[in-house]
Amino acid sequence: MSGRGWIRIAADLPIVPRMHTDLPEPDADARAHSERLVALIRREIASAGGVLDFARYMELALYAPGLGYYSAGAAKFGTDGDFITAPELGFVFARCLARALAPVLGETRGDILELGPGSGALATELLLELERLDALPGRYRLLERSADLRERQRALVRRRCPHLEKLIEWLDAPPAQPWRGALVANEVIDALPVRLFALRADALHERGVGLDAGGRLIEREIPADASLTHAVTAALGARIDLLPRPYKSEVCPLLVPWFAEVTRSLEQGSAWFIDYGYARDAYYTPERREGTLRCHYRHRAHNDALLWPGLQDITAWVDFDALAESAVAAGFECAANQTQARFLIEHDLDAVFTDAYARAPDETAKYRLAHEVKQLTLPGEMGERFRVVEFRRNS
Ligand SMILES: C[S@@+](CC[C@H](N)C(=O)[O-])C[C@H]1O[C@@H](n2cnc3c(N)ncnc32)[C@H](O)[C@@H]1O
Repeated sequence: MSGRGWIRIAADLPIVPRMHTDLPEPDADARAHSERLVALIRREIASAGGVLDFARYMELALYAPGLGYYSAGAAKFGTDGDFITAPELGFVFARCLARALAPVLGETRGDILELGPGSGALATELLLELERLDALPGRYRLLERSADLRERQRALVRRRCPHLEKLIEWLDAPPAQPWRGALVANEVIDALPVRLFALRADALHERGVGLDAGGRLIEREIPADASLTHAVTAALGARIDLLPRPYKSEVCPLLVPWFAEVTRSLEQGSAWFIDYGYARDAYYTPERREGTLRCHYRHRAHNDALLWPGLQDITAWVDFDALAESAVAAGFECAANQTQARFLIEHDLDAVFTDAYARAPDETAKYRLAHEVKQLTLPGEMGERFRVVEFRRNS
């Protein structure tokens, strides 16, 4: 089994990504679902004049209402889905994170806003642990664009912590009124749509999505427009001359406006982002000449983003310098930036583990707990590829 964080970090991000020779075939219903989304994408390609910007393609593939990967009913998370995230492994991640959030909540007497809460696993375990620590937030707000995931989150809350449901509020957009407290986003930034580029001997090209003569989706290159050229030059800086040609990668121009929007009304408190990625000088290196875009389907990772739109996840690694620049532009200061392993150790991993181990009902539960801690902390798994970054505003 693999997680989003897993297959790709088993050693490091493969320089030559795995192709999709070993993927299980989707069934007829799933293929028909994907074909409905492809029909929509074809219409957008036609309106765009033959080539669709990859960021728009990714937006549709992941979030087209009722059809996109995150908007429709696929399992996605966990053993029956396509990948596993830290909160899906068990409760250890959430219990440590609760210890990091408790002081902020105490100081601000505020709320929690979680972006992209997935199955709701993090929300439920955080609330239960904050209750034990006597540090419950005033409200726990979930910003979730997918109606399907919202229903799953509601069902999990009712199963795991029905007595805390009264604290929970689902939002369609970031809060309009000023609020204080902690914002949390685990593996959300890697799901933001990116634009793809290719540096070739002659010029910078945009890699978009077009159609072949049979109407199948294909990658199409066109000269980069001014906005992509600006984004790539800003991200690569002087490195641009040192990179080999051809050189393919991606940028996320959406990050700055997205960050500003989701944090606009946070007047005092912290924003925590947990994700996999690199600082810029490790992101845009000659060795990584195929970029970091990856797809996840039934616990296999590959790099064909045009395969079965709507049935597979599409992600790109986070440029942590771009994240810091977005935060500074939005008026935040960076308070912490550490590997996930270090973050967990600094937030009582040892005590959380020891306590849970002592209470584990049997040997299987003990084994699972030990395995979970390994997955969260080992350098070859999630421990070093994931970073936990905290930004503060007015606190
Ligand atoms: C890989 S999942 C992570 C889910 C969950 N946080 C976890 O760790 O299991 C990505 C999540 O980000 C959400 N998402 C993507 N773009 C978003 C955006 N612009 N605003 C809020 N959530 C977003 C998706 O709906 C999905 O729930």
